[in-house]
Amino acid sequence: MGYTLAEKIIKEHIVDGEMVKGTDIGLRIDQTLTQDATGTMAYLEFEAMGVPRVKTEKSVAYIDHNTLQTGFENADDHRFIQSVCKKHGIYFSKPGNGICHQVHLERFGKPGKTLIGSDSHTPTGGGIGMLAMGAGGLDVAVAMGGGAYYITMPKMVRVNLTGKLQPWVAAKDIILEVLRIMSVKGGVGKIVEYGGEGVKTLSVPERATITNMGAELGATTSIFPSDELTRQFLKAQGREEDWVELTPDEDAVYDEVIDIDLSTLKPMAACPHSPDNIKTIESLAGQKVDQVCIGSCTNSSYRDLMTVAHILKGKTVAENVSLAIAPGSKQVFNMLALNGALGDLIAAGARILESACGPCIGMGQSPNSKGISLRTFNRNFLGRSGTKDGQIYLVSPETAAVSALTGVFTDPTTLGEGYTVEMPEKFLINDNMVIDPAPVEEMDNIEVLRGPNIKPFPETTPLEETINATCALKVEDNITTDHIMPAGAKILPLRSNIPAISQHCFTVCDPEFPKRAKELGSSIIVGGANYGQGSSREHAALAPLYLGVKAVLVKSFARIHRANLINAGILPLEFCNEADYDKINLNDEITLPDVKDIIANGGDVKVVNKTTGEEIMAKCELTDRTKAIIIAGGLLNYTKENG
Ligand code: F3S
Repeated sequence: MGYTLAEKIIKEHIVDGEMVKGTDIGLRIDQTLTQDATGTMAYLEFEAMGVPRVKTEKSVAYIDHNTLQTGFENADDHRFIQSVCKKHGIYFSKPGNGICHQVHLERFGKPGKTLIGSDSHTPTGGGIGMLAMGAGGLDVAVAMGGGAYYITMPKMVRVNLTGKLQPWVAAKDIILEVLRIMSVKGGVGKIVEYGGEGVKTLSVPERATITNMGAELGATTSIFPSDELTRQFLKAQGREEDWVELTPDEDAVYDEVIDIDLSTLKPMAACPHSPDNIKTIESLAGQKVDQVCIGSCTNSSYRDLMTVAHILKGKTVAENVSLAIAPGSKQVFNMLALNGALGDLIAAGARILESACGPCIGMGQSPNSKGISLRTFNRNFLGRSGTKDGQIYLVSPETAAVSALTGVFTDPTTLGEGYTVEMPEKFLINDNMVIDPAPVEEMDNIEVLRGPNIKPFPETTPLEETINATCALKVEDNITTDHIMPAGAKILPLRSNIPAISQHCFTVCDPEFPKRAKELGSSIIVGGANYGQGSSREHAALAPLYLGVKAVLVKSFARIHRANLINAGILPLEFCNEADYDKINLNDEITLPDVKDIIANGGDVKVVNKTTGEEIMAKCELTDRTKAIIIAGGLLNYTKENG
């Protein structure tokens, strides 16, 4: 039986486990990327591992999210990241150089390699045939330290593309069609592989638009083959030597096959408030538009912006529309400036933003109340734009540009004769906003610059023989990571400062918890069912760790939060008998005798309530690897010992 494209890359990189679907496998990671919002913590974690130099082939830190500098915090974070990179062997892409995924595709990505990034749209790299996956900051730190990245061996989906897109129908419309078919949950536990004759009609940036938004399917990643067009793209980036051909075996077996005839597709929009709420532009035509934003890691390539410039050339943006454009990278921005296209955009009345995430991450350009905003981005969840009742529609650059001119939803196919951007034989290559790491012999002389907002990763210690602790908090069912570690404008800038951010831990449930837990020094939390549901926020484990929480004893956990607790070295325990929840109260003294031996050898954990004299049993199901992580005192210690 032959291998799919993704299976071939997995086979080359597997270091733990077998390629059996549904089981956990460890992969060697060739490249990593971070963005600034998640990167600060990833580098603090990397520092805590004590590894002097990254062990990956290439690691790059991008500054593209929090580029607004209205206080010292963001600027401090950027300076910290830059100095860590210089010291430890990481390339640093300065603010203004562009959005991580766009720049990585242009300058660093390589077919056949593995990439993890602390950003969910890392699968953009699948556009040049990388196995590129979004991961947590700690996963990235571990990969930089030489540790494996663990995933569940995914199922394989083949999307078979035939035919050719009609004029003015775009790659964005292909991924919107896939979202319509599969939905935002349809990709969970799967890798989506594109193939078929239609692939040859799509340039690398178009393929990257499709793999980028594969994140909205919930997929592990998406990938295209590496073919002659990939070679040409890399050659035009001055990197032809990075090219290798990659195709699936003829007899590769897929778990699911989806056929799409490109010639039948129409321009589409993902309507509020979900990327899979798809309608044709034809059906929306004539509705008023207030704002148009073009850019983001989904649609800000040279091809996209040249198409937009062609549509806008010699015209004027409608008087009711605010049009904002953010080129995806300095390379794209500079090329538009030199070939005159930037002049066409400015002349038409577009507002040009810096090369960064900008409005996609809510940094400016929030629409007016109830405003209708057409965006070439990838997400349209309620409130993400910064306007609570904003109505965000996700569309192609073609639909965005023509609608900006007319002031109403307009199907770009009404433009008539098509236009194909001529891809340059050579892109403008100027990496002077990428700072190289210092040579190994100079790294000891480099000082890491920490402003007052940068605090080290909390200390972790190996699992104790016996845990003696106090119940510092008792909560109900369905506690979310927002309860544990609230977000918000005041709290977000504290992500690189665990002592400060931990002062907000659980304050929505009990304002006294942080102070009480810290004073106790060693505590446990007792909770109900589905504890830790919500986002993958790792601070929801790191703040309790800093406050001295040794174990969390609940009726049941949400999966990702449980994994984050293990990574932080906090023991995740579940009541063997849910009714025992009533047998522990706030401030009760608890002992877990011989817990280290029990974890090492398997079996249920005895929980003695010294205050009431009652004994109850708890279970803690762990694999050999997670057992070793808990005993070591968390993933960082484990990687230090085994890395
Ligand atoms: Fe940035 Fe938005 Fe992409 S925040 S990385 S442009 S999804």
